[in-house]
Amino acid sequence: MNKIRNFCIIAHIDHGKSTLADRLLEYTKTVEGKDLQAQVLDNMDLERERGITIKSHAIQMQYTYQDETYILNLIDTPGHVDFSYEVSRSIAACEGALLIVDAAQGIQAQTISNLYMAIDNDLEIIPILNKIDLPSAMPDEVEDQIIELLGCKREEIIRASGKTGQGVYDILDAIIDRVPAPKGDPEAPLQALIFDSVFNSFRGIIAYFKIVNGSIRKGDLVKFFATGKEYDADEIGVLKLDMSPREEVTCGDVGYIISGIKTSKEVKVGDTITHVKNPCEKAIDGFEEVKPMVFAGVYPIESEDFEDLRASLEKLQLNDASLTFQPESSIALGFGFRCGFLGLLHMEIIQERLDREFNMDVITTVPNVSYLVYDKKGNVKEVHNPSGLPDPTLIDYIEEPYIRASVITNTTYIGPIMTLCLGKRGILLKQEYISGDRVEITYDIPLGEIVIDFYDKLKSISKGYASFDYHMHDYRQAKLVKMDILLNGEPVDALSTLTHQDNAVNFGRRMCEKLKELIPRQQFDIAIQAAVGAKIIARETIKAVRKDVTAKCYGGDISRKRKLLEKQKEGKKRMKQVGNVEVPQKAFLAVLKLD
Ligand code: GTP
Repeated sequence: MNKIRNFCIIAHIDHGKSTLADRLLEYTKTVEGKDLQAQVLDNMDLERERGITIKSHAIQMQYTYQDETYILNLIDTPGHVDFSYEVSRSIAACEGALLIVDAAQGIQAQTISNLYMAIDNDLEIIPILNKIDLPSAMPDEVEDQIIELLGCKREEIIRASGKTGQGVYDILDAIIDRVPAPKGDPEAPLQALIFDSVFNSFRGIIAYFKIVNGSIRKGDLVKFFATGKEYDADEIGVLKLDMSPREEVTCGDVGYIISGIKTSKEVKVGDTITHVKNPCEKAIDGFEEVKPMVFAGVYPIESEDFEDLRASLEKLQLNDASLTFQPESSIALGFGFRCGFLGLLHMEIIQERLDREFNMDVITTVPNVSYLVYDKKGNVKEVHNPSGLPDPTLIDYIEEPYIRASVITNTTYIGPIMTLCLGKRGILLKQEYISGDRVEITYDIPLGEIVIDFYDKLKSISKGYASFDYHMHDYRQAKLVKMDILLNGEPVDALSTLTHQDNAVNFGRRMCEKLKELIPRQQFDIAIQAAVGAKIIARETIKAVRKDVTAKCYGGDISRKRKLLEKQKEGKKRMKQVGNVEVPQKAFLAVLKLD
């Protein structure tokens, strides 16, 4: 056990985590340089394209230091706020963390939030100043930031480059020197922490764990605490580049288990594995059920694709337990599903996977968060869809989720960022200087305001020089009203939103203007109205046009005529008929595009 080192890498997006991980694999000869596919650890196509590690994985390396061979387990952590619970469990499985900071960018929001998580878990932190090869690197200045943040000595910071390989051996040595070996009692009853799982279409669910106490042998009968279910450990092993089966995995080590589990719902990140005979007394601390926070309707463009969509969502759920869905119907869109996501990125990923892996053409409606609606009898109901709101006369009050958000930026952008947060009903908590002209601003903001165009605005007003991170904080009472959109007098349920009473008129006006831009002119006038209850609060009109696409094709050029008609039909496919109005797909997300 004293020859094992478990560590993770924490870094802000794009600070070079994957590149450095590749170098560690190369320098420990875990992979040969020539076989090194760019970024071995990101093995989903989508991940590679986005450069974001979505699912955490682990990999074992061997490294000889002062004539002793050590086992280094690198546990990869996802880099985005939506997956912060997974990050927290990966961190909990380690004794040390490499804190990577881009020498040109300095400390960013996720550097700090992940660092706090690592410190909470008592991890030994090895600060690394990465991308030292960049001409724009500001090593001294960024080192000052790190020293201020960690209270470490300048000599403890390793200057490195994942690109040139500078400092990589120093990092390996430091992992062995500074990161403590795992503790734990090999003789105690088994206690293994599940920090991740993946779905494999041949083998079912593969759960990744770190053994905190005891050991596990192939064939053992084990139990998962949170679900209470029992399984045979059909195969166990350690994680090299591929799975490497073993007869036994012991205390302190990281491994995997395959036990015939078919769906990801049965394996919960953060759960504890123990033996059925001689079980441990209690689960490892920190288990939480992850709950979807953002909800949206997902509808097939062609209504006959409903069952296919269901099958696709079921398949996606096999390897992504945090996706939830249930059937719902909309007057405007027909039959579809209400899907729950961890956050906006997660929603985007699912949408993209539906398109790429399942070839499903879908319309996604405006995202909503989950509200708590208290009625006058004192009952509380969770509502994730404006149409699920009870009759207003029965509602006592509504509570909405708030996040605590941290924005790190340059002093130049404080003004516009504060204006943005204020416009989103944010409450300023504090403003702290990190070093020089870098400042951290902390706000409490309704999550419902963040899901609508916050990231994009933040990015544009700060010219990219602001990083943002958040976690769920609490629920607070709010004066929310349901705003409906009517097209030629017909309410379009998929366009209804919950909005704050004071913002409703302004919001309604902007929605109508945006829809006017997005809905093409048709052969009759279209009235667009925004209403709260029976009261119309805004209105726009789209004037009629007579569009005859074949008019240009005088004479008999049939094939040209047909081509044009085909083209028009293609265009129509992305339209949805609402009453007598044809509404393009993008109009259903109009609310995200408001200026
Ligand atoms: P996420 O997975 O999105 O969190 O990113 P990451 O932190 O894994 O960063 P990644 O390794 O993908 O690197 C981001 C970009 O920086 C890529 O374009 C790399 O080629 C580049 N990069 C990484 N390390 C270095 C380095 O040491 N020097 C230079 N010059 N570029 C680097």
